[in-house]
Amino acid sequence: MNKKINIVPASGKLGILTPGLGAVATTFIAGVIAARKGIGKPIGSLTQMGRLRLGKRTENRHPLIREFVPLVPIEQLVFGGWDIFTDDVYAAASHAKVLDQRLLDDLKEDLRSIKPMPAVFDSHYIRNINGPNVKKGASKMELAEQLMEDIRRFQAENGCERVVMVWCASTEAYLQAGPVHYSLAVFEEGLRQSDPGIAPSQIYAYAALKCRVPFANGAPNLTCDIPALLELSIREKTPIGGKDFKTGQTLMKTVVAPGLSARALGVRGWFSTNILGNRDGEVLDAPENFRTKEVSKGNVLEGIFNQELHPELYGELYHKIRINYYPPHGDNKESWDNIDLFGWLGYPMQIKINFLCRDSILAAPIVLDLALFLDLAQRAGLHGIQEWLSFYFKAPQTLPGLPAEHDIFKQLSKLENTLRYLMGEDLITHLGQDYYEDFYAQQAGH
Ligand SMILES: NC(=O)c1ccc[n+]([C@@H]2O[C@H](COP(=O)([O-])OP(=O)(O)OC[C@H]3O[C@@H](n4cnc5c(N)ncnc54)[C@H](O)[C@@H]3O)[C@@H](O)[C@H]2O)c1
Repeated sequence: MNKKINIVPASGKLGILTPGLGAVATTFIAGVIAARKGIGKPIGSLTQMGRLRLGKRTENRHPLIREFVPLVPIEQLVFGGWDIFTDDVYAAASHAKVLDQRLLDDLKEDLRSIKPMPAVFDSHYIRNINGPNVKKGASKMELAEQLMEDIRRFQAENGCERVVMVWCASTEAYLQAGPVHYSLAVFEEGLRQSDPGIAPSQIYAYAALKCRVPFANGAPNLTCDIPALLELSIREKTPIGGKDFKTGQTLMKTVVAPGLSARALGVRGWFSTNILGNRDGEVLDAPENFRTKEVSKGNVLEGIFNQELHPELYGELYHKIRINYYPPHGDNKESWDNIDLFGWLGYPMQIKINFLCRDSILAAPIVLDLALFLDLAQRAGLHGIQEWLSFYFKAPQTLPGLPAEHDIFKQLSKLENTLRYLMGEDLITHLGQDYYEDFYAQQAGH
């Protein structure tokens, strides 16, 4: 047995703040409230439905994760957020059309009471939408201070012991780390000077970390994946994670690709296309915003099919991704994957995947799990990048120079072993020699 880590109890209320109260955030909030009232089940959420194995296979110990590690119960969650539109969560969820109107009507009172705070917004970073509920400030630093004030007020008004923040707002235009992101001191000066290289999502992340509020990034924006904010997260002993919720097509990719690579099958091409008609799709219709998504989705296969180690299997892999805005489908994304693979002696084969998914239905449980696990991480004294939460992301944030792990099965092992480690349980390596050694020793004794 390992030594158990000292974890502060999960007492009191936990506030979950989301920049963006659109399809994902409102589906998440309505879903948790529905589960709380017993009118729906939080399916897809590991923290609510998942179990993990402890000890040897023969011990038959498979506790629910939420009973194994001290997580805040969903009854103790309080929700809030920011949006550029003034719609409350009931109106925004009705607009998003993910959940049945009848269900939303049953939850109307609770949902109506959650109203968006004015957002920090910059149309240079999101071109295709604009709204009236936006903060004004003399500098980006002043906007960050307004956000910090929002966080403190929300926490006090709702009697929350702790708060976490999960970015659920639109995808920002593609941004690469530049000099203003390289250190905290330069970044803070950049905020004071309103440096155009600082995106709104980075202002939210800065405000969160300054308040010691853990921050996860559900979109592919650069956001906290910069040295300045990593420095701040370490200094403030606050966990961060990102980027881009792993749902839909990429989820399927990280399920199928490890299987092909495990069998040393070659892959020559992987063409992914999809259509979706929600506001996310509308934002991604702008080339600079699509570029952000393309980069985050694009690295997944290259991470699993290692071209350098296996040039004869993956050296010629052609990976192409398209996202098409198609309003009639709303949030019901449809994706097609065509995989050109080859086997023994190079004989070609094909796999076709047609996934008729619901984007926000897959993303909502991720928001819940990230919020609860980030809060756990902070109470356990973990801070900085939480690589064990890679399981939830398309483009997991890691230390600079450390390659990300994209294989969902390895990511799950890492997550489960982290929970075992926190609770002082043996890590599971799946070696399994001990069963056989014990058996052979017994046989030899007879
Ligand atoms: N649904 C999925 O499966 C999925 C998967 C991975 C990532 N994502 C990402 O999650 C994010 C949310 O997706 P969605 O489907 O809810 O989109 P959405 O368009 O329905 O909601 C986003 C909301 O963010 C608001 N917003 C934009 N800029 C803002 C700002 N600066 N501050 C506050 N609010 C702002 C918009 O007004 C909108 O209401 C997107 O970035 C999307 O790419 C979604």
